[in-house]
Amino acid sequence: MAKLRVGMIGGGGPGSFFGMVHNRAISLDASRELVAGALRTDPAAALAAAAAWGIEGYGDWQSMLAAVQSGKLCLDYVTIVTPNHAHYAPARAFLAAGIPVLCEKPMTMTVEEAEDMVAAAAPGNVPFVLAHTYTGHPMMMFAKELVRTGQIGEVRKIESWYNQGWLASDLEASGQQQAAWRTDPQRTGISNCGGDIGTHAFIAATWVSGLGVARVSARLNSFVPGRVLDDDFNVIAEMSNGATALIHATQIAIGYKNDNGFRIFGTKGSLEWHQERAEKLLVRRGEVDEVYWIGAGFSYIPASVKPYLRVPAGHHEDFFPALANLHQTMEFTLRRRRGDGTAPTPFDHPGLAEGVAGMRFVRAAVESSKARGAWTEL
Ligand SMILES: NC(=O)c1ccc[n+]([C@@H]2O[C@H](COP(=O)([O-])OP(=O)(O)OC[C@H]3O[C@@H](n4cnc5c(N)ncnc54)[C@H](O)[C@@H]3O)[C@@H](O)[C@H]2O)c1
Repeated sequence: MAKLRVGMIGGGGPGSFFGMVHNRAISLDASRELVAGALRTDPAAALAAAAAWGIEGYGDWQSMLAAVQSGKLCLDYVTIVTPNHAHYAPARAFLAAGIPVLCEKPMTMTVEEAEDMVAAAAPGNVPFVLAHTYTGHPMMMFAKELVRTGQIGEVRKIESWYNQGWLASDLEASGQQQAAWRTDPQRTGISNCGGDIGTHAFIAATWVSGLGVARVSARLNSFVPGRVLDDDFNVIAEMSNGATALIHATQIAIGYKNDNGFRIFGTKGSLEWHQERAEKLLVRRGEVDEVYWIGAGFSYIPASVKPYLRVPAGHHEDFFPALANLHQTMEFTLRRRRGDGTAPTPFDHPGLAEGVAGMRFVRAAVESSKARGAWTEL
């Protein structure tokens, strides 16, 4: 079985964060390899970054796309790990050329760009995966299956959150790379905290529950003096079935690292999951609490989740495997499209529809907050 050949846009060079995480996730299963990349904005730096990883380098994504189209380079899909403002143009171009894309979140800068990406992918039904990494955690996938199969009944209320403290002070003034672009409206969009991590909380509330958000009332704050965009993001949402969701995120919670998670309360039971203890899912059905641990051999892991587990219980599967699971979903999709009957059914991970919904959610929250919390339709 030939390894899938992957190209990367962004994510390379000294000081960059998530490109290396994708690099490891791509190679984790020995069935995919990173072969080419346009890894930085500056062409010379992009070539140097590719040389450092031992892959074929391109000065920009346009020349990498041209190489694919002329037959000089063979790629099965590309992954996009640039700041938010540089997702749309390459994603749209590769989708329009029929090349599958695994793109970082938030999907785009605007709702219009997100909708245009849907249009670009539609003619060839080109595969697209949105990199909400945490949805690759098997116990988050298990939670989605428990809701889908009615184990907790009708969803009445949801809490989802993402608390961080790294932007509690003016870190961007130091020029720190990740802080600088996330707080810059030109590179991040209309919301910093909401777009960056509020969308993770949004996905936890919607993707796990299978519900949409109908309308929101929001309060966004910018606590650090001089900061233009929000560093604190609070939403009360009316869900598509009438349930209520509290969806919130913050970057000013000093001491909090990646406190992402959710609680879902149904008519028959409740679910609780914490990203920082991702191997465990809590299910409450009444007097006795049930704790489910990750483990490839455990009988309670649904068949839809089993292909995404790698090691027996008691060993750790965490952040890198979670992102690798999104690459697995892309891989299973491509192998099945090519007629490989041995490839497992891909899990229903976030894609274009969830990306558009996330952009509409952020836009509605920003508008609602400007209108002092007025209820705003998505
Ligand atoms: N899913 C997650 O859990 C998660 C975690 C971290 C970051 N992210 C996402 O990953 C993306 C990157 O974030 P980061 O923290 O790694 O940022 P970063 O600043 O560390 O890295 C961005 C990289 O993109 C390169 N780049 C910028 N514009 C480019 C262009 N036009 N062409 C080629 N390269 C370009 C930069 O040179 C840099 O190497 C963001 O969209 C962010 O939201 C997701």
